[in-house]
Amino acid sequence: MPPRGLPPCRMALLGMLLGLLASCFTFCLSHQNPFALTSPEKSGIKEAERKETTAEEELDSEVLEVFHPTHEWQALQPGQAVPVGSHVRLNLQTGAREVKLQEEDKSRSNLKALKKGKRLDINTNTYTSQDLKSALAKFKEGAEVESSKEDKARQAKVKRLFRPIEELKKDFEELNVVIETDMQIMVRLINKFNSSSSSLEEKIAALFDLEYYVHQMDNAQDLLSFGGLQVVINGLNSTEPLVKEYAAFVLGAAFSSNPKVQVEAIEGGALQKLLVILATDQPLPAKKKVLFALCSLLRHFPYAQQQFLKLGGLQVLRSLVQVKGTEVLAVRVVTLLYDLVTEKMFAEEEAELTQETSPEKLQQYRQVHLLPGLREQGWCEITAHLLALPEHDSREKVLQTLNALLATCRDRYRQDPQLSSTLANLQAEYQALATLELQDGEDEGYFRELLGSINSLLKELR
Ligand SMILES: *[C@@H]1O[C@H](CO)[C@@H](O)[C@H](O)[C@H]1NC(C)=O
Ligand SMILES: *[C@@H]1O[C@H](CO)[C@@H](O)[C@H](O)[C@H]1NC(C)=O
Repeated sequence: MPPRGLPPCRMALLGMLLGLLASCFTFCLSHQNPFALTSPEKSGIKEAERKETTAEEELDSEVLEVFHPTHEWQALQPGQAVPVGSHVRLNLQTGAREVKLQEEDKSRSNLKALKKGKRLDINTNTYTSQDLKSALAKFKEGAEVESSKEDKARQAKVKRLFRPIEELKKDFEELNVVIETDMQIMVRLINKFNSSSSSLEEKIAALFDLEYYVHQMDNAQDLLSFGGLQVVINGLNSTEPLVKEYAAFVLGAAFSSNPKVQVEAIEGGALQKLLVILATDQPLPAKKKVLFALCSLLRHFPYAQQQFLKLGGLQVLRSLVQVKGTEVLAVRVVTLLYDLVTEKMFAEEEAELTQETSPEKLQQYRQVHLLPGLREQGWCEITAHLLALPEHDSREKVLQTLNALLATCRDRYRQDPQLSSTLANLQAEYQALATLELQDGEDEGYFRELLGSINSLLKELR
């Protein structure tokens, strides 16, 4: 990347910063699928944090060509810097970053992008410390590529050019770029969302941005410290389905593996509100995100699980999965139940093994009477029928749930003629697929594994 002009090196930093803002699209998109019910989504964040710390150690102030935007979208070439206040977007069709001069009416297009599940356009000249840190990480990546092919002398120069982050912040300030802390950003977003003068678009955009921050545990706890969490919980009461949907999106991220926030949410009435949404007529996208928030709230929190059962949560979920055209929700519901059943089992096993785990927690789990409730309310049958779904991964989840419920549901399974014929069909299907897999040299294949759990289930039901 040979430098062509010689603008001030600050321009270069800004260019990198904008580069990062575009790359933020990818990062945020990776958080778009909030339905990984069984795995917390923190790993991506940790990865980013790790990168940030190393990035601050070495810096290069590369000189970049400055791009002059017009009122039309123009593709930005790698290495070009963009003046403050330009409107930058990632063209998701071509993968190119595009730039134009900033215009006023942007909320409409923002909402459109939002509804398609894409990251908002970035058109503010307020950058965050998060952005700055990631920009530095990006910077480092670029420098690495270069140093692998360039000489050592250049690396030494990079070291000399290293400057502490405080100095960089000063540079950004001189550029009239304000660095906000995550807390300040969250307060600003909550105020935007809570303000009666904000439009629906602005409220949704605020929630959408907020979700990015609350993935971090500390941020989610800060959110509750200034009353922001309750504001988002109250958002579940909104008459606008989109507000419900995006409030649940934020809550799902905030609850995830964050006991302090989970406790506060229960006290703030989040559980009832989530269940009310699931029990009433709402658009499917809203229900998906609400179900995700419910999962995050219940997981590893036996007290919430007790309340869930007391409030008739199982009945709510049952009517949810019995609506036609909601198979995608049904599999997620069954996965949630599987998680809860196994979680309690592990807690008991662990207590037995260590004989030291806090008996209080175990007491809590003992009061979660999940399995009898599942049996009484027909979940043995509901789960068995879901095995007829066509997708392999749905079947995989259903099979693992059938296995987890085996002790509770054995007689029900045996009395279900549809289940035994489905299992026989699947056995034949996976037998064939596993043979092909073996011919391809895979002796630990996926289909073989599925066949294994079908066989063991059939054996158990004989
Ligand atoms: C949200 O708005 C209400 C009423 O306008 C106000 O009483 C409350 O303090 C606001 N909450 C926050 C956290 O800003
Ligand atoms: C939200 O709605 C529930 C019923 O769905 C109601 O009981 C509660 O008072 C409402 N809360 C607020 C803050 O409006």
